[in-house]
Amino acid sequence: MSNDGRFAVVHNGIIENYLELRRELIKDGYIFQSETDTETIVHLLELYYDGDIKAAVMKTAARLEGSYALGIVCTDTPDALYVVREASPLILGVGVGENYFASDVTALVSHTKNVIYLEDGEFAKLTPDSITVCDCAGREVKKPISRVTWSVEAAEKGGYEHFMLKEIMEQPAAVKAALAPRIHEGRVQLDGFELGEEELRGISKIIITACGSAYYAGCSGRYAIERLCRVPVQVELASELRPMVDEHTLVLVISQSGETADTIAALKECKARGAKVIGIVNVVGSTIAKLADFTLYTFAGPEIAVATTKGYTTQLTVLYLFALYMAEKLGRIDAESYTTLVKELQHLPRKLQQTIDMNWQIPKLVSRYASHSLFFIGRNTDYAVALEGALKMKEISYLHAESYAAGELKHGTIALIEENQPVIAVCCNEALMDKTLSNIVEVKARGAKVLALSCKGNKKIVSQADDVIFIPRVETVFSAALAVVPLQLLAYYAAKEKGCDIDKPKNLAKSVTVE
Ligand code: AGP
Repeated sequence: MSNDGRFAVVHNGIIENYLELRRELIKDGYIFQSETDTETIVHLLELYYDGDIKAAVMKTAARLEGSYALGIVCTDTPDALYVVREASPLILGVGVGENYFASDVTALVSHTKNVIYLEDGEFAKLTPDSITVCDCAGREVKKPISRVTWSVEAAEKGGYEHFMLKEIMEQPAAVKAALAPRIHEGRVQLDGFELGEEELRGISKIIITACGSAYYAGCSGRYAIERLCRVPVQVELASELRPMVDEHTLVLVISQSGETADTIAALKECKARGAKVIGIVNVVGSTIAKLADFTLYTFAGPEIAVATTKGYTTQLTVLYLFALYMAEKLGRIDAESYTTLVKELQHLPRKLQQTIDMNWQIPKLVSRYASHSLFFIGRNTDYAVALEGALKMKEISYLHAESYAAGELKHGTIALIEENQPVIAVCCNEALMDKTLSNIVEVKARGAKVLALSCKGNKKIVSQADDVIFIPRVETVFSAALAVVPLQLLAYYAAKEKGCDIDKPKNLAKSVTVE
């Protein structure tokens, strides 16, 4: 709140030049109650206010560097809210006799499905009966009202104890929603991706960039694309991307929220260097969806739990569709393999349901394997799954969990194995089975207890691991989509046993809108 008590703000984002502003404001006599960057905003509003709130907000916004979605109230106009955004999501909800603003559309769906997406630099005044939007020059602009298709039920728990569990259970339906509109008469069609065959042939490499689980989805996607299309794929953390890209590079930017600041920055960088960008995004109307040259939506529906589950599996699904589509267009796959793989993809929702049904015993394994720091190991596609499994465990149960490429153990990490060290071995890749089995033997010989994850019917693993969890048999190229499910459940039940706040883990936000 401002010193004169006239203004109060809520802020999502980060003001990068706040120390400089703070020094200036203190010199001018403003008293700070906190160490937050946000507090500088409210004192600037007081400084620039001369009876015209819009002008004060515009002048304040002009001084701010960084990212912000601001909600402002002023005691002079108690029936109005003022909002402004820059590099941080801000959505207006249009109601009847009431209007709203939020950073995320999921917060609005139980109130209204009519929304207005604000652009960077835009300002709006909301009263119960009106919404006025102005551009960064203060000129009034007419904004279209979009209709959100997500249902209210989808944004509620529907009888489940946590959103995360509900979202795990929704995966068969979510993957089906991602597949169904894109497979027609046995062929993959990607509406929204309009590169001609000539242009596709001109692509010399693909870069996948994303953060967190979306990055791990990219790691799995890489194996699928390289195997089916025989095009080199580089997977880069968006926050680390120093792109060697040009107009012959195709960039896949993956994001559930479509608002992750690091991912947006990477996208802009790639576009500036001439690359064509495909966004693989869940939230319609999000920044990445708007900035990308083409957008492939994942159709997962609203994902509320901070730990992504159906967001991740639908990202994998779209990557698999993309791999098959490209492989066919480039003539890198024979007709028989193409038909088999498309069919296999169509079986994924059913197999996901089987995976969930087969893994009812997971809560019983929690006390044995999730009471200590955990190692997740695997090779190739299984390694990509191990990465995601360890992240799930860390973020919701707060247990220390690390993933290692199984073949790397003997290059150092195996020194950490001691009596009773839990090791989760992902072992779904038939071609690499024997090698991973050797790694299981190695860690067991040093005292580890091993929980293996493999495809049904794998007898060898039963004789080597202490416990085994199974998924249905599946083409290796798509196995990550099934293999991740037991790991999501393991993390969920571990967190539940520890009494953690599963849907809202400490220190984390659903969309990370600051770099
Ligand atoms: C996943 O469980 C995480 N909460 C996090 O790693 C997430 O995947 C990452 O922040 C990227 O988010 P995005 O998909 O919305 O860009």
